This record gives sequence, structure tokens and C-alpha cells, in this order.
Amino acid sequence: MHEQEQEPSAEGGPWWREAVFYQLYPRSFADANGDGVGDLDGILARLEHLVWLGVDALWLSPFYRSPMADFGYDVSDHCDVDPIFGDLAAFDALLTEAHALGLRVIIDWVPNHTSDQHPWFLDAASSRDSEHRDWYVWRDPVEDGSPPNNWVAAFDLTAPAWTFHEPTGQWYLHLFDPAQPDLDWDQPAVVRAMHEVLQFWLDRGVDGFRADVLHTIGKFPDLPDDPPPVAGIPHCALNDVPVTHERIRAIRSLIDSYPDDRVLVGEIYLMTTDAIASYYGDGDEVHLAFNFPALYAPWDADRWRAAIEETEATLGSRGAWPTWVLSNHDNPRHRTRYDRAAIHRGEDAATTARRSEARARAAAVLLLTLRGTPFLYQGEELGLLDADIRPEQALDPGSRDGCRAPLPWDGSAGHGWSTGPGAGIDPWLPFPPEADVRNREALHTDPNSILHLYRRLLAVRRATPELRAGELELLDTPPGVLALRRSLGAGVCHVVINTTDAEVELSGVLVPVGSTLLIASDDLGRTGAARATSTDRFMLGADQAIILTV
Ligand code: NOJ
Repeated sequence: MHEQEQEPSAEGGPWWREAVFYQLYPRSFADANGDGVGDLDGILARLEHLVWLGVDALWLSPFYRSPMADFGYDVSDHCDVDPIFGDLAAFDALLTEAHALGLRVIIDWVPNHTSDQHPWFLDAASSRDSEHRDWYVWRDPVEDGSPPNNWVAAFDLTAPAWTFHEPTGQWYLHLFDPAQPDLDWDQPAVVRAMHEVLQFWLDRGVDGFRADVLHTIGKFPDLPDDPPPVAGIPHCALNDVPVTHERIRAIRSLIDSYPDDRVLVGEIYLMTTDAIASYYGDGDEVHLAFNFPALYAPWDADRWRAAIEETEATLGSRGAWPTWVLSNHDNPRHRTRYDRAAIHRGEDAATTARRSEARARAAAVLLLTLRGTPFLYQGEELGLLDADIRPEQALDPGSRDGCRAPLPWDGSAGHGWSTGPGAGIDPWLPFPPEADVRNREALHTDPNSILHLYRRLLAVRRATPELRAGELELLDTPPGVLALRRSLGAGVCHVVINTTDAEVELSGVLVPVGSTLLIASDDLGRTGAARATSTDRFMLGADQAIILTV
């Protein structure tokens, strides 16, 4: 394996501005010890795939000790690896090898809550006078016996964000599952302990963190009710409190005190780009934040244009660097979402089957040509759909199993998933649809596959400074078409995306004479001169996306 050659940074900025991240969900990537659950050695054994693909950085979802009530987002020891995933030596080996291959590695840090099995909470729950009691948020019962406020927990929208703890006669707060009690960040000891966790991993050499629901570490001291119009929405999507910014600034200065541009990526789970943008601070809070309105945008040119305009306006005015993401471990994969939405709009099943992958290919072109740092989610390079999960197979309290299905590596019965002693064992969740043909090995041998499209997109992005770092302008288009102009110095690219099922003729403004087709989403062979004369017609195919140098 060879270390990747990274073009010099087009802007001379930190690495994460021009990197493409790849999210690994360790339970589902690859299983090296044959127990049916993915692990760190499995990732190590498959790093070559990521190098071949051409990503720059990995984000690992939690691998810490955990009772797995929320599959690792309920941490019972922040500074150790859960045995199901390996051990600290396996983590060190993975980090060392990733670095040797030129891949940066960021890890999840879960600051808002712990597991209810964490020694801190076990002590807190042992008595009202315990050392760690005030590390968590406890409230006395109100007279009528109802919870202390109207906050709703995530996962079960009928459930309050509070659980009554009989032995000590108080309610404790949990914005997520009852097995995930919220820490009280008003307590300096909590801040110190969670900063020490960051230091532990920074000292081990990680390149940064994806901070889980980072906007929730500050709460109004009197924990006021959510107002009636939004009551019923999980409180984690509403919590937006000034004191949090101060706390993030302290986290940022700790991270910035380490060399080599370590990065803080905030999961700021708020529903407007404007609200999210405020967590970039004055360049002194998160380096990057996920842009959820874009993740939730349907596959519709107008909606994407609006999301891009809003992102450019709100982040651009702060000098904040955008991120783009289509899929992650919390939401149906984008291919599945776009199909479901199309069916909901009345598209018939045969048409959806015909258009499904074409839409996913066009979406890949968009994701990898927007201005900002893209995040891929494992398996989107295979064009995976969500797995069908029968009720008796469901495991996740938040019904997110479908997008967490294991990756099919080959077309064999066990899909090359378990390579250890238990090879052939059933994985913890069923494989996604079409795994016989839609697996890494099969797509790798087909140069026209979506996998090769992702690889070519990453290569073109790497070789094209204007795509990595250029200005972005939205161009006028026919209906249903989205067009971006990316420019840096003399370098100019046009990206044109047809979200409709009909061919569209493009003007000479979008496809100027003399422009060169770098990528067509549906046909890798179709590259070269796009339009020779001003009278040539350029037809953009149904669901097709193209990148041109002009
Ligand atoms: C956001 C994570 O992405 C999700 O998977 C988790 O359930 C919650 N935060 C709680 O940690």
C-alpha cells in the first residue's frame, strides 16, 4: 500500500478544509474476530479500500466501553475500548497504520451524557450525598408527581426526558435513552473530567473529534419548559443556550493547544443553518459543524439551491467553513430517502427502480463538488440502500438499524464480512439489499460502477484546486436543474445536475464552447470536449450530473 499523494493545499489552510472524511461505524464495517460484530482489527484489515477510494480522513463512531443501549453512544469508560471492538493496542495499531497511509483519524467524543453503568453515575445514584451526585442533573418530584419539565427525550417521543429514581427519590435528566443520563456541565469537576478525556486521546495521537450533540452541554439553570409550539419535539433539537458557547471556546482552546491542526467537528443538532452557524463563534468554537438542513433536503433542485444559498449566506458572512453530508448512522441512507420520497410523490415502482442509483450517482457529484468539507458514510460508495429490518430483528431504540447494516465485501454467502474464526456467522444485522451483486468486490471489477464513480470524483477533486477551495456561485438553469460554478484564480469548473427524469438542453452559459467534460455521473467513458461550436446542442441526460472545466 502506498501513502496517498495529497495535492498541496490550494489555500494553505488547515488540512480539514480540503479533506474528504469517511465515517466508519465500527460495528458494521468489517468483523475480524468472527463474532458477528465489526471491530477495530476489521477496519485495519480493510484500510486499503479507503486508500484506494481516495478519502483523506476517517471519523470513527464510538468504540469505547459501553453496555450498548445506544450502540456505544452510552459510554461507561471513555478511555478504554469495548472488548467487542478490541483493545487500546488495537486502536493504537489502527491509528499508526492509518497515519502511515496518509489518513487522518478523528474519533467520537460524547460529552453530554454517559451510560447509566458509568462508575460516575453508579456512584451518583448510590445516594444523594455521593461524590458524583451533582455530576448529573437531578430534580425533586413536583407535587402532582409529573416530571420536572415538559422536555421530550429522543427515540421515544411519548417519553419524558426524565426518569424517576426510586431509591433516592429524585428524577434524573436524559435527553436520550434513560440509560444515558445527562452530565451537569455547570459542575467544574465534570468539565475537568471531560477535558481529561480529550487530552487522553489527543496524547494518543488522534487528529480531532466529532463531538456528539455538542450544543447540549449548556442548559438554562432553571430548565424551563419548551414553549407550546415546539413542545413534543425532542429537546435535543431545541437546546440552544448562550453558556454553551463559552464551554465550547474552552474545549477549542484545549484542542488548539496541540500541534498539527487537530479538528473539532460539532454535531450541532439544530434545525436551521443559521442556528448551527453560531457555534462556529468568531473562529473560536467548532472548526466544522454538520449542516443538518442540507442532510434533510429532498432530492429537488430548488430545495438544494435554497440550502446552498442559506449556507453560503450564513456561514460565508462569518468566514466559517461549511460541511456537507448526505447520510450517516442516524438517518435512512440518502438513496433510500430519495426513493421513498419519490414513491410518496407518486413515482411508480419500476421508475423508482430505474432511477434509484442514477439519483445516488448524481447526488455524489453534488456532495463532492460543493464548497466545504464533505463527509461520506460507509457504504454510500457502494450505493447501498437501507437493509430491510423485520420487527423481530430490530435492535436500535431509535429505529436506525436499516442504515447500520454490515458492508458486503464480496458475493460469497457470508459476503466476506467475518474473516476470523467464526467466518460465515450471521452478522448482528442483516445485509443490505442486492448484496450478492452490490458488494465491494463486484463493484470494484466493474469500471462503470458507482464505486468507481466515487473514486473518480475523489481523484478529480484532489486534482482540481477550484473544487476543493474555490468560490461557489449558483448559475441560472432550466427547471429541475442545479448548476454550480467553482472558481479559483484562472481555474473554473461548472457542475450541472439534472434532478428530473427528462433530458434537458443546456445553454452555452452552462456548457461553454471549448469546455471539457471531466465526469458524467452515468457514464465514465463519456469525457472529453463537451461542446465544439456554439451551435452544438449539449443534452444533459435524465438524472445525470456532469463536471466540466471551462
Ligand atoms: C447523536 C448520535 O449521532 C446518535 O447516534 C446518538 O444516539 C445520540 N447523539 C446520543 O448520543
